[in-house]
Amino acid sequence: MFLLRFVALATTAAGYVVTTLVNDKAICYLYPESLRYDGEAVDDAPSIHQAFQTCGQNGDVIFTDGIFNIKSVMNTTNLANCDVTLQGELRFSTDIDYWLSHSYDVVFQNQSTAWLFGGENVTFRADGGWYNGQGQAWYTENQNQSNQPGRPISITFFESKNLLVDGLRIIQPQFWATFVTYSYNVSIINLYVNATSNDQWGTVNTDGYDSWNSDTLLVENAVIQNGDDCIAAKGNTTNLHVKNVTCYDNFGMTIGSVGQYPDMPDYVGNVTFEDVKCYNCMEGAFIKTWQGVPAGDDNLNGDAGGGGSGLIKNVTWRNFEMTNVALPIQISQCIYTEADGKYCNTSKMAIEDITWSNIKATTRYNVGASIYCSDVHPCPRIKFENVELESVNSTLGLPMYGTTLQDEVYQCTNIVGQEDSGIPCNRAAPNDYSQVVTRNIKETD
Ligand SMILES: *[C@@H]1O[C@H](CO)[C@@H](O)[C@H](O)[C@H]1NC(C)=O
Ligand SMILES: *[C@@H]1O[C@H](CO)[C@@H](O)[C@H](O)[C@H]1NC(C)=O
Ligand SMILES: *[C@@H]1O[C@H](CO)[C@@H](O)[C@H](O)[C@H]1NC(C)=O
Ligand SMILES: *[C@@H]1O[C@H](CO)[C@@H](O)[C@H](O)[C@H]1NC(C)=O
Ligand SMILES: *[C@@H]1O[C@H](CO)[C@@H](O)[C@H](O)[C@H]1NC(C)=O
Ligand SMILES: *[C@@H]1O[C@H](CO)[C@@H](O)[C@H](O)[C@H]1NC(C)=O
Ligand SMILES: *[C@@H]1O[C@H](CO)[C@@H](O)[C@H](O)[C@H]1NC(C)=O
Ligand SMILES: *[C@@H]1O[C@H](CO)[C@@H](O)[C@H](O)[C@H]1NC(C)=O
Ligand SMILES: *[C@@H]1O[C@H](CO)[C@@H](O)[C@H](O)[C@H]1NC(C)=O
Ligand SMILES: *[C@@H]1O[C@H](CO)[C@@H](O)[C@H](O)[C@H]1NC(C)=O
Ligand SMILES: *[C@@H]1O[C@H](CO)[C@@H](O)[C@H](O)[C@H]1NC(C)=O
Ligand SMILES: *[C@@H]1O[C@H](CO)[C@@H](O)[C@H](O)[C@H]1NC(C)=O
Repeated sequence: MFLLRFVALATTAAGYVVTTLVNDKAICYLYPESLRYDGEAVDDAPSIHQAFQTCGQNGDVIFTDGIFNIKSVMNTTNLANCDVTLQGELRFSTDIDYWLSHSYDVVFQNQSTAWLFGGENVTFRADGGWYNGQGQAWYTENQNQSNQPGRPISITFFESKNLLVDGLRIIQPQFWATFVTYSYNVSIINLYVNATSNDQWGTVNTDGYDSWNSDTLLVENAVIQNGDDCIAAKGNTTNLHVKNVTCYDNFGMTIGSVGQYPDMPDYVGNVTFEDVKCYNCMEGAFIKTWQGVPAGDDNLNGDAGGGGSGLIKNVTWRNFEMTNVALPIQISQCIYTEADGKYCNTSKMAIEDITWSNIKATTRYNVGASIYCSDVHPCPRIKFENVELESVNSTLGLPMYGTTLQDEVYQCTNIVGQEDSGIPCNRAAPNDYSQVVTRNIKETD
């Protein structure tokens, strides 16, 4: 029997939530508080918590069309059998002091988040709605610093199982846009992320998607424009499949960084990135690990560490088309100390069974690949299959500037069985080669 009953929660509780029961299933409709407060931008987070409390287990939560002002952190975890629909805009406030001191810790690197979201058998679908991080305030305030403590990840999918996120659009993320952690079987499809700064400061650390300590993951049909990794598989990411993603201006598809903590080994296995386009990216398809010796101040989040061990095994980048990319292919085992060429031969992270297949790219400089494996763990079974790289200038019939190295450079160090790798190595990879490439390699480098 069809049963419809209205419960007038809106009048009895703080939040503007209207609950309906359909066949004993609770459906919570969320309306912006501003509708009750004469257009005033009142914080909607309390109503949102109330809606998830009422309908987060065996119910539905619907954000109706309208602007929801989010002025405080949200913790909507422990959901079960819940379908969430986003029709409106979630507009996160720019009270930087508030967020720096209130964002939830996500454990990894002491990073933190504005919204912890998670549960089992949950769907989160955008139906015209979007997440507005109002990140410009952060880009301007952050002034190109790296990993500012307390700067919040837009949304963290935490302790989730069988979670489907469909159609999420994150415009101007505050920091990393999405993070998947302590989860199993999370699929994020039709994702759109765009971090674009309108002043002299860049969009540092606005990763599109990061995963850590999670297994069985999918990212499919995504468009990501930002100033850091497009997609990054961090420690203990296994069975990640990335398919059909277009990246603009960012750092491409990466494994890492890993090997940061001596007491927490990192395992990354079975990762495939396929059908990817990268336009004007800095990097395309690469692996970055910490050096084998701790460096930096231990109390800094993301920017200090090293000495961690572990294994990166069975990673494939397949069907990539890259245009004007600075460094399409790289392995670096000292990404945080390479500038001074320190400890690059010490990394304890082992890397094996890595394949780049059907990769076509035009390169901004004369460098196609730089593969530096640690002396401690030379890399076995590293393969190129049908990799075609050519500098932009070469495609135009123009010479490379300021160098006698006019052919594409492939730098290799410590590849086991290099002659069978299919990599046309023509130079040793120096231990101080950066992930940020700004000029041609010279014969004297
Ligand atoms: C989030 O809420 C859950 C209860 O649903 C609670 O157990 C958990 O401690 C909260 N997390 C944080 C970081 O406050
Ligand atoms: C987090 O910060 C605390 C205190 O600043 C520090 O002791 C700890 O090592 C840091 N943890 C990580 C994982 O960086
Ligand atoms: C999630 O769905 C699976 C498969 O239908 C079911 O076995 C499991 O009990 C569900 N989990 C919860 C928390 O209801
Ligand atoms: C993963 O979750 C989806 C629902 O999002 C479910 O249909 C599928 O069976 C789950 N797969 C595994 C391997 O648990
Ligand atoms: C990202 O946003 C900027 C500024 O609004 C816009 O110019 C650009 O086209 C957008 N990128 C994508 C991929 O949609
Ligand atoms: C900040 O970083 C961006 C992106 O790397 C760069 O374009 C910009 O010039 C830097 N701004 C300043 C003022 O250094
Ligand atoms: C790839 O993703 C884009 C962006 O979401 C989408 O428009 C396109 O239809 C997808 N292509 C395929 C083959 O699914
Ligand atoms: C990865 O998983 C292993 C074993 O499951 C665990 O010992 C280690 O601490 C985890 N690493 C991280 C970075 O969480
Ligand atoms: C990788 O995939 C293989 C084949 O499906 C599986 O046997 C293995 O357990 C997977 N490895 C990890 C770390 O999940
Ligand atoms: C390697 O990983 C892929 C998924 O990315 C998986 O299909 C394949 O079975 C794995 N191979 C081995 C040997 O584990
Ligand atoms: C690493 O390089 C340094 C010099 O840069 C050298 O002293 C040291 O012996 C090397 N270590 C190994 C393991 O090769
Ligand atoms: C490409 O050619 C142009 C014109 O000669 C030159 O200005 C530019 O520096 C060259 N680019 C590189 C990366 O060498």
